[in-house]
Amino acid sequence: MIGDSGKGALVDLRSDTVTRPSAGMRRAMMEAELGDDVFGDDPTVNRLQSQAAQLLGFEHALLFPSGTQSNLAALMSHCGRGDEYLVGQEAHTYRYEAGGGAVLGSIQPQPLANRADGTLDLAELEAAIKPDDPHFARTRLLALENTIGGKAIGRRYFDEALSLARRKGLAAHLDGARLFNAAVKLGVPAKELCRGFDTVSVCLSKGLGAPAGTLLLGSEALIHKARRARKILGGAMRQAGIVAAAGLYALEHNVARLAQDHANAERLAVGLRGAGFDVEGPHTNMVFVTAPPGFADHLVNNEILVLAGPRMRLVTHLDVNAAAIDRVLAAARSFASAAAQTRG
Ligand SMILES: Cc1ncc(COP(=O)(O)O)c(C=O)c1O
Repeated sequence: MIGDSGKGALVDLRSDTVTRPSAGMRRAMMEAELGDDVFGDDPTVNRLQSQAAQLLGFEHALLFPSGTQSNLAALMSHCGRGDEYLVGQEAHTYRYEAGGGAVLGSIQPQPLANRADGTLDLAELEAAIKPDDPHFARTRLLALENTIGGKAIGRRYFDEALSLARRKGLAAHLDGARLFNAAVKLGVPAKELCRGFDTVSVCLSKGLGAPAGTLLLGSEALIHKARRARKILGGAMRQAGIVAAAGLYALEHNVARLAQDHANAERLAVGLRGAGFDVEGPHTNMVFVTAPPGFADHLVNNEILVLAGPRMRLVTHLDVNAAAIDRVLAAARSFASAAAQTRG
């Protein structure tokens, strides 16, 4: 069985999306009051949407099945055919969403290099904004991400980036799939990290532990457009209160505890460094390790699931406890000492 890590079962460090709903969350889902959300009749969805809008400082929120769809609906709400959005090379909305903006929205991405801290250089950003000229796509939107690669970006950078966007007449979208990780890490209310963005997308199904669901937040006018985009994209669900109940439970029970995931990532990074590995981070709930050949196989043989690659990302979450981290470290140390013996 995957999960209940630290009790001898598999330890799954592939992503914080692998969590399964806890008993309490399942109970909340079972007991949810339901209606047809396409008619706006689902009381649990409505409660989640209004609670989230209030929590994060927006007029409205809209529940989507996934973060990918919420981000795409945001792009489609800000941009039309032949428009362009500025986005980081490493951003999920550019790199990991199958080019949805271009494929389904006829929106051109203008990717820019992310700096080591995950931000975009503002001079480069400004230089990439196209003049109003029929040769060019119309630059309409700046899309940022927090956390990005686990790195939490603070208010000061957003103030500068958003003031540039305003000066240039651009709208601003934040992919806040892990917004609450950033807020907990920086010790600020999540609302503080949303201020100034026209839309923010927040996933319930990553560190917050819900099985599905992402909220898009924005003004009444933008959410009206996003609702149409959601319909086009096939994301309007019927008795979606089952999903919303998990989201409400997650917002109530699983935000403050993200600090434990960050502490476990710290424990993992310190332990791996101690065992001689080349480690980057921790960045909130993520640790990056340069993986020697054979390391991923060794972990898998020890019932530790990872995504293999030369720069391995290890992610902590609510199904990984400190004992599970210690199992990973024991496996890493046994790999390192076997490698040292082979060399010696
Ligand atoms: C930063 C970020 N944004 C968006 C998404 C997309 O979320 P989903 O998998 O729900 O489509 C992910 C998924 O991992 C993500 O990491």
